[in-house]
Amino acid sequence: MMKIIWSLCLIFSLFNSILSFSSPANHLCLPDQRDALWEFKSEFYIQKPDWMESDTKTTTEKWKNTDCCSWDGVSCDPKTGKVVELFLWASSLNGPLRSNSSLFRLKHLQRLELTSNNLSGTLPSSISNLKHLKVLNLRGCDMFGKIPSSLGNLSHLTNLDLSENDFTGELPDSIGSLTQLTELQLAVAKLTGKFPLQLLNLSELNGIDLRFNHFQGMLPSNMSSLSKLASFDITGNSFSGSVPSSLFLIPSLMILALGKNDFNGPLEIGYNISSSPSTLGSLSLEENSFIGPISGSISKLVGLWYLVLSFWNTEKGMVDFSSFLHLKSLKTLHLSYLNTRSIVDLSLFSHLMSLSDLDLSGITVKISETLSLPSTIETLALSSCNIAVFPKFLQNLTSLYSLDISVNRIEGQVPEWLWSLPALRYVNISQNVFSGFEGSADVIQRSEKVMLDISSNTFQDPFPLLSNSTVYFSGSNNRFSGEIPRALCELVNLDTLVLSNNNFSGSFPRCFNARISVLHIQNNSLSGVFPEESVSVYLRSLDVGRNRLSGKLPKSLINCTILEFLNMGDNNFNDTFPFWLSSLANLQILVLRSNKFHGPLSSLMFDISENHFTGVLPSDYFASWSAMSSAVDIVDSTLFKYAGRSSPYYHNSVGLTNKGLKMELVGSVFTMYKTIDVSGNRLEGDVPESICLLKELIVLNMSNNAFTGRIPSSLGKLSNLQSLDLSQNGLSGGIPPELGKLTFLARMNFSHNRLVGPIPQGTQIQSQNSSSFAENHGLCGVPLQETCGGKEEEEEATKEEEEEDQTLSWIAVVIAYVPSVFCGLTISHILFSCKPDWFMRIFHSFT
Ligand SMILES: *[C@@H]1O[C@H](CO)[C@@H](O)[C@H](O)[C@H]1NC(C)=O
Ligand SMILES: *[C@@H]1O[C@H](CO)[C@@H](O)[C@H](O)[C@H]1NC(C)=O
Ligand SMILES: *[C@@H]1O[C@H](CO)[C@@H](O)[C@H](O)[C@H]1NC(C)=O
Ligand SMILES: *[C@@H]1O[C@H](CO)[C@@H](O)[C@H](O)[C@H]1NC(C)=O
Ligand SMILES: *[C@@H]1O[C@H](CO)[C@@H](O)[C@H](O)[C@H]1NC(C)=O
Ligand SMILES: *[C@@H]1O[C@H](CO)[C@@H](O)[C@H](O)[C@H]1NC(C)=O
Ligand SMILES: *[C@@H]1O[C@H](CO)[C@@H](O)[C@H](O)[C@H]1NC(C)=O
Ligand SMILES: *[C@@H]1O[C@H](CO)[C@@H](O)[C@H](O)[C@H]1NC(C)=O
Ligand SMILES: *[C@@H]1O[C@H](CO)[C@@H](O)[C@H](O)[C@H]1NC(C)=O
Ligand SMILES: *[C@@H]1O[C@H](CO)[C@@H](O)[C@H](O)[C@H]1NC(C)=O
Ligand SMILES: *[C@@H]1O[C@H](CO)[C@@H](O)[C@H](O)[C@H]1NC(C)=O
Ligand SMILES: *[C@@H]1O[C@H](CO)[C@@H](O)[C@H](O)[C@H]1NC(C)=O
Repeated sequence: MMKIIWSLCLIFSLFNSILSFSSPANHLCLPDQRDALWEFKSEFYIQKPDWMESDTKTTTEKWKNTDCCSWDGVSCDPKTGKVVELFLWASSLNGPLRSNSSLFRLKHLQRLELTSNNLSGTLPSSISNLKHLKVLNLRGCDMFGKIPSSLGNLSHLTNLDLSENDFTGELPDSIGSLTQLTELQLAVAKLTGKFPLQLLNLSELNGIDLRFNHFQGMLPSNMSSLSKLASFDITGNSFSGSVPSSLFLIPSLMILALGKNDFNGPLEIGYNISSSPSTLGSLSLEENSFIGPISGSISKLVGLWYLVLSFWNTEKGMVDFSSFLHLKSLKTLHLSYLNTRSIVDLSLFSHLMSLSDLDLSGITVKISETLSLPSTIETLALSSCNIAVFPKFLQNLTSLYSLDISVNRIEGQVPEWLWSLPALRYVNISQNVFSGFEGSADVIQRSEKVMLDISSNTFQDPFPLLSNSTVYFSGSNNRFSGEIPRALCELVNLDTLVLSNNNFSGSFPRCFNARISVLHIQNNSLSGVFPEESVSVYLRSLDVGRNRLSGKLPKSLINCTILEFLNMGDNNFNDTFPFWLSSLANLQILVLRSNKFHGPLSSLMFDISENHFTGVLPSDYFASWSAMSSAVDIVDSTLFKYAGRSSPYYHNSVGLTNKGLKMELVGSVFTMYKTIDVSGNRLEGDVPESICLLKELIVLNMSNNAFTGRIPSSLGKLSNLQSLDLSQNGLSGGIPPELGKLTFLARMNFSHNRLVGPIPQGTQIQSQNSSSFAENHGLCGVPLQETCGGKEEEEEATKEEEEEDQTLSWIAVVIAYVPSVFCGLTISHILFSCKPDWFMRIFHSFT
């Protein structure tokens, strides 16, 4: 039997070799290599993206039972016939790379590129079996877990790219053994720890890319041991301390990107630079904590074509803008928000003949009548520049693509010529005092604008006609009135429409293109029902709060599975309480406050029996709001390509009243923090235990209701909680000691309840004002005057509880027989911008 197989094999391989002789391009495919490839292919299932035609074959689908060395993406060594390269970019491979994967039998692989597949799983340490690897590229493969230390055994590795995965933890020390490494790319992951010192030993390194990770601490002072480094990018980490001057001593350095970190101190850029200062072409230092003057010696870096210094804090000092004029190669210059009192004469920049991207936002500029800037300019940002007259020099900027002149003092009409600038696609004129548009009614429609932000001006009717190419339009905070123009319905590319804070009236348009994803018409005077057909399944954010809409909530919302933000508050909706909304798994914010939601017995009964709850809120009510239970990062770049500079995709804002403080919170690219505000309703029964599932919660406001029963000790699990307000209810029993352990809890209010017993120990609790505990039945201990007398209170507490339990069951019975329970309920999650200053501002508003 074996013999027969052997001879078959022999015949087969002879046949193969004949084939390969007849066609010189072919190599001899060794059976073990072919089998390994074949098995490797079968370890994954193919799931093509939506945009791909279903009959299009992916790389591995094209593999046929022929010479494997001729397969797509496979290369063999012509002498040995071993597979040495496997190149399967975006081949729709789905499934984890197992530690026993047959891939690891291709022991002679020198190049492995699996970029953009879905290998959701860890990187197995058996990767080190591929000892001959020189290039390993697993960019964007949805991998997670730690980077295995066995990587250090791949001693021939020259290129390692593990970017855009969810790798966590620290880089393994063994990375320091990869002495041949020239390119190390670990961008956009979740790596932590200090700057990996092992890298300093890798003297062949050409490029280091650690962008957007969670690295922290100082950079080592001896960076210059990386003597061949050309590109060093650590943007978007938390590195701190001063920038080591040794970085500037690396003669080969061309790209240095240190932006969006926490570097501080004065920095003498260009003072101690190496012998060939013209090598450095790109320097970005934006959004750090640099303080002090910007040294004029920067003018020595004559090779710079990209220079970004935004948010350098000169402490209201002077900036010598003329030092930038020596940098003749500059294409990109961002000097926004330098906190300077210098005024810059724009004509200075007329000598930079390659300039294409200029950002001077936040600096007062002087614009002369005769000013002319190089026509190479494509992106111009002059936001908050104290400009009073529409700049005429723009007329000659025939390449201008993106213009931001928001937050200035420009009055009157927007000149007609603006719309005929041939390249202009992105226009932001928000926060000025414009009142209208010069020219005929279709002046904007005739030009092809993609993004148009005219918000916060004094524009009045007629509403401008927009072109079909419009993707983003914001006209909020103006004086538009009348019906919402039906012409908007025909804009087939419209993705975002913001018309909030105007005086639109009439009914809600029965249209809106089926693909709209952000629709904000808050604070107008729309009335009538919300038409079912206006609900697009692509909606991510729908805000129609503060109108006069009535009738029922559109049931078609149930199909909006990607909806994240829904504000229907402050209208006249008269409907049963929409428990069904909890099936929208991506919903982050729901505002239903101030409407006429009520629960007919039947549907409440249904929810009662399903959820076994006592009182009005089912005890596991919050268990179904799954999206809230974990942090969600939204980093949306869909529209970045339209805007010259990073612009937020959309804003969600929610007015939240907290202790009389009205806050308008606007998030852009944000991390979610969450708030539940059910204050000022007539909610009864227990505080639902399941609230503790909402781990991200930072504000919980249940004040001014009729909640009874005890404060659940599970609240102690909300470790991120910063503000807790349970005042003005009928809560009884004691304050659970677990709350004393919440270290971030800065503000709390238990006043006006029937609480008894000692106030728990804990620095946060004890530092509260005594008014936070006032008007209760028997609280004692710091910060109250009353000292705790020991046993008596506790006894009283238990007695109280027994009474309460009885009342509670009565309430439950009563509720079950009352035909309808009215309630207006707000459950809102507030988005905070991920920038720490935002966070602090909001934090201060609470305290
Ligand atoms: C690899 O291991 C998995 C279990 O981890 C097993 O199901 C699979 O059959 C193994 N594959 C091979 C080729 O041994
Ligand atoms: C990747 O695979 C995982 C698990 O198989 C799956 O949950 C996820 O949706 C996939 N991602 C994409 C983008 O297809
Ligand atoms: C590298 O290989 C050696 C010998 O094969 C082995 O002993 C060692 O544990 C490996 N190192 C790592 C980090 O896997
Ligand atoms: C760098 O290499 C030297 C010798 O090759 C070794 O002694 C040292 O521990 C290494 N340093 C790091 C941080 O890996
Ligand atoms: C660089 O400095 C660090 C301490 O900052 C030291 O541990 C390391 O050995 C030095 N590496 C080289 C290559 O000089
Ligand atoms: C510049 O380098 C010299 C010696 O190389 C050093 O003494 C001096 O302190 C450095 N100056 C700055 C500003 O880094
Ligand atoms: C700018 O354009 C205007 C009219 O379009 C023209 O008169 C003027 O000469 C141009 N200026 C420069 C500097 O090109
Ligand atoms: C916009 O596109 C729609 C549908 O393709 C078309 O009916 C309408 O006439 C177009 N409008 C303009 C102004 O081109
Ligand atoms: C809003 O429009 C109504 C008519 O629809 C008008 O009576 C009212 O004065 C307008 N309000 C403002 C502030 O313009
Ligand atoms: C949701 O979508 C499905 C399929 O498109 C449709 O049949 C159903 O009527 C929709 N539901 C509602 C409530 O509109
Ligand atoms: C709500 O609608 C019902 C009929 O569906 C009506 O009986 C009731 O009066 C309305 N409630 C309010 C407050 O308008
Ligand atoms: C327009 O400018 C304002 C103020 O600078 C900014 O808040 C807004 O996000 C910008 N709009 C767009 C669409 O980028």
